[in-house]
Amino acid sequence: MGLAGPDGAPPGAALPVPAELLRAAADRFGTPVGVTAVAALEAAAAELRAAFPDPWLRAYSLKANDVPAVVERLGAMGLDANVVSRGEWAAARRAGIPNARTTLEGIGKTAGDLRAAVRAAAAGAPLRWVAVESPEELDALAAMAARAGLGRGGVGPLDVLLRLNPAVAPETHAGLAVGNEASKFGMTETELTAAAAATPEGGPLRVRGLHLHVGSQLGAVDAWRDAVRRAFALFALLAAGRADLDTLDVGGGFPVGVPGSVPAPARFAEEAARLLAAVPAGRRPTRLATEPGRFLVARSGVIVARVLHVRERAGWGRVAVVDAGMTELIRPMLYGARHRVAALTSLGRPVDPDGAATAGLGPTRVDGPVCEATDTFGDQRLPPLRRGDLVAIADAGAYGASMAMAYNGRPAIPQVLAEPDGALVLGRARGRLA
Ligand SMILES: Cc1ncc(COP(=O)(O)O)c(C=O)c1O
Repeated sequence: MGLAGPDGAPPGAALPVPAELLRAAADRFGTPVGVTAVAALEAAAAELRAAFPDPWLRAYSLKANDVPAVVERLGAMGLDANVVSRGEWAAARRAGIPNARTTLEGIGKTAGDLRAAVRAAAAGAPLRWVAVESPEELDALAAMAARAGLGRGGVGPLDVLLRLNPAVAPETHAGLAVGNEASKFGMTETELTAAAAATPEGGPLRVRGLHLHVGSQLGAVDAWRDAVRRAFALFALLAAGRADLDTLDVGGGFPVGVPGSVPAPARFAEEAARLLAAVPAGRRPTRLATEPGRFLVARSGVIVARVLHVRERAGWGRVAVVDAGMTELIRPMLYGARHRVAALTSLGRPVDPDGAATAGLGPTRVDGPVCEATDTFGDQRLPPLRRGDLVAIADAGAYGASMAMAYNGRPAIPQVLAEPDGALVLGRARGRLA
């Protein structure tokens, strides 16, 4: 494995939390511990807002990080919520984000999830919309909505978007490329057109527009641009006969990585503006939405771990085993993601992971503590380490805590917010052993 990859920070990039605060978090809460820099959340939210200003709708995809304290902060920063299940929906509600600012999408919606969306609409507190994945799901939702009396007798219909499979090959890891034709996500243009035709205006479901998501950690804007162009074209076709159609949700996927080497949200926004300008007036969506996850949280998160063993392995060099691994951050194992690991102490003494003092840095393979050989953060450049030393795993704020698992009897790690004034606030306590 190389030292830098498309989805990790470069060696030497600054951590979002000062080293002494990360060491203090380890002392206070034990290891491993997840630390989220509130200032980094704020910076990401501000960058997104600048790229996609009002009237763009900006929702945070909770799948990237559903730690309640993190969701709550993002909600307070003005982000709406994008959820894929009743579980995430409940997390959004607990974070103070009302149904009117919450959208439900996802390939795995159960009958219970759909029923809950219908009940909320019947009770007068509808979700902003439900993005529908397939003709079958649409039929099921329509039947429930009709039974609940939506769209009749003063009860409003349930707003839906139809998810388009944009049939593009995005510039990302195959495991993150959900917008290709063979993927399980969304409807083909033919399916979607038929689904819209089968959902007449004035019924229990109101088709408001289209939804798409090309993939995560997009390394370039090209496939995204093709997908959005297709969505605008299809929208224009459908809008010709439907007054209710007004929305396009372009999904998430904005990458994090070495600054300058991956497109910023503003690049995607520029492309969207250019494409929109090419659509004849009157056929344009008047409501545009985006729903990133990773971009908002990835760089804010650090996992602080403690070294358990350091050994020399013939042919491999130095190998350090630390007490956080795939159970806390599965991305390296799942799709070979690169995460920088930096030392916070070396042979028991504090070191500055972002400082100039690089003397003694050497190649070290950092492995996790779980009984799988693929539980590794790969080769890193680290100073001498021994049992008890502390390391920081960078860019761990997205798809870490939300994908955590209890394999090997490992409880969920504590999640701590690092406030801009240096205070450490426990956001979620360590899980129970039993
Ligand atoms: C439909 C949809 N929207 C948004 C996201 C969030 O993606 P990201 O975290 O890359 O921004 C995903 C991720 O899987 C998704 O499937």
